[in-house]
Amino acid sequence: MAEAAALQLRGIAKGYGMRRLADGLDLQVAAGQTVAILGPSGCGKSTLLKIVAGLEPADAGRLFFGEEDITAWPPERRGFALMFQDFALFPHLDVLDNVAFGLVEQRLSRRMARARAAELLRRFGLQAHTHRRVWTLSGGEQQRVALARALITQPRVLLLDEPFSALDAALKDTLRAEFRHHIAQAGMATLLVTHDEAEARAMAGEGWRLDQGRLLRAW
Ligand SMILES: Nc1ncnc2c1ncn2[C@@H]1O[C@H](COP(=O)(O)OP(=O)(O)OP(=O)(O)O)[C@@H](O)[C@H]1O
Ligand SMILES: [Mg+2]
Repeated sequence: MAEAAALQLRGIAKGYGMRRLADGLDLQVAAGQTVAILGPSGCGKSTLLKIVAGLEPADAGRLFFGEEDITAWPPERRGFALMFQDFALFPHLDVLDNVAFGLVEQRLSRRMARARAAELLRRFGLQAHTHRRVWTLSGGEQQRVALARALITQPRVLLLDEPFSALDAALKDTLRAEFRHHIAQAGMATLLVTHDEAEARAMAGEGWRLDQGRLLRAW
């Protein structure tokens, strides 16, 4: 039996000016499943993730989480984690406070938030970097910090935008395995966008191509 969809896009449309980026997209992602969307630069991948996260409105269509219509929900009510293409870590905070941020924002005490963040840093092998400024870290270390930051609020949906772009091949393999493990363990519905087909295939059991606003099944 197919698993019930956690995340559902129904007829999502989006354009800027004359440019149609999404032209009535339907897609489903189950809990613990990773679905990949492939497409060239500028086709609308990041925009689509921002729509799912609630950071950009769609022109038409609806979003569901389980049975719930979340189309009009603001980002914080959705509780989805978006790992941005450029990580968007906070340069003025150290590693610990970058990871703790999501919990502080949810009004957990700073002490509790830091304790949970420290636990995640251990899990990701980042404890030695706890008090470093994020801009002194290597690309791979920053990527791990970004993932830890995304996971700390235990999101139901994980949105990954080119998560392994700036890394060497060996580190990509290691981090892909780590991500897959955490996604399965946490049961997150995960939507990954990338222009890198090998990466998409390594991460996702199901893949689509975003082609002139339409999704074509790739595998
Ligand atoms: N707020 C905006 N206003 C106008 N145009 C926008 C806006 N946001 C994105 N665009 C345009 O929409 C198109 C799709 O952008 P998007 O960032 O979604 O592409 P992408 O597929 O993620 O590309 P890349 O692989 O380079 O990251 C681009 O041409 C971009 O310039
Ligand atoms: Mg992008």
